[in-house]
Amino acid sequence: MKKQGKAIRKAVFPAAGLGTRFLPATKASPKEMLPLVDKPLIQYAVEEAECCGIEEFIIITGKQKRAIEDHFDAAHELEDLLQRKGKKDLLGEVQRLNGFTCAYIRQRAPLGLGHAILCAKPFAKSEPFAVLLSDDVIDPDESLLNDMIAVYEATQAPVVALETVAPEDVEKYGIIDGAEESRGLYRINALVEKPKPGEAPSRLSVIGRYILTPEIFDLLENIAPGKGGEIQLTDALNQLAKKRPVYGLVFEGKRYDAGDKLGFLKATVELALKDKVLSKGFRDFLENFMRTQGIQARN
Ligand code: UTP
Repeated sequence: MKKQGKAIRKAVFPAAGLGTRFLPATKASPKEMLPLVDKPLIQYAVEEAECCGIEEFIIITGKQKRAIEDHFDAAHELEDLLQRKGKKDLLGEVQRLNGFTCAYIRQRAPLGLGHAILCAKPFAKSEPFAVLLSDDVIDPDESLLNDMIAVYEATQAPVVALETVAPEDVEKYGIIDGAEESRGLYRINALVEKPKPGEAPSRLSVIGRYILTPEIFDLLENIAPGKGGEIQLTDALNQLAKKRPVYGLVFEGKRYDAGDKLGFLKATVELALKDKVLSKGFRDFLENFMRTQGIQARN
């Protein structure tokens, strides 16, 4: 991914959710620290933002999330050991993580994604900012966030990422009603959280990447709890779209819902097959496994 200008300097990473879809693994450990191959989910998201020129990383944490702070902190004992053993590559990788300028804010109770974003208000101040949900893993070769920043630069309006979902899946997501202004770019009229299949205005669902402007905070402060008793970002965006342009950019590349067990397994397999060191051995293993299990590859 190429680096881009400085229209967006800050990113917020809501990471205070309870991760119930991944219990029992997430009982005492943060979902955001589940590793895909050798990196935790949150590191993929932080690196994705870094690739877009983002400089400040605001992580919303909660109970049982201390491991996230430790991951982006110095680890003197480990670094000394790697130094003494001459493991320069590993040392470089570990030390690089200490270089991110991170701020941590505790969300005192998991009151919803909208509430988590509201917690970032004192740090975002009057600037536009990106929001990345780290359990939505975007393939590192894709340029979604860069493309969204380009839309923001052209329109000065909030931008959400969209994906087309199967008709039977609309009830799992926030769905938009919008008009396509240019290929893949929608002006959003309304958003509905988890509509019933017959009532969905489209099949375009919001996925975990957003460029937001500070106007969102006033709306989040005043919004009543929505579905599940949570402060829903979708509800605030719906109100915002009634007042000013809000855009949705359709993403056609690879995304994995790594907060879900099956999505996590798919992401692990695909990223392992792309890993320079592991891919050959892992591909051989998979081919052999499929053969011995009598599983046919389908085209
Ligand atoms: P999810 O619903 O995907 O995450 O929230 P969750 O609540 O952790 O997981 P499940 O559904 O119970 O398995 C989307 C994002 O919003 C964050 C989550 O950490 C995740 O990144 N979030 C959610 C918060 O930070 N605070 C909340 O109160 C709720």
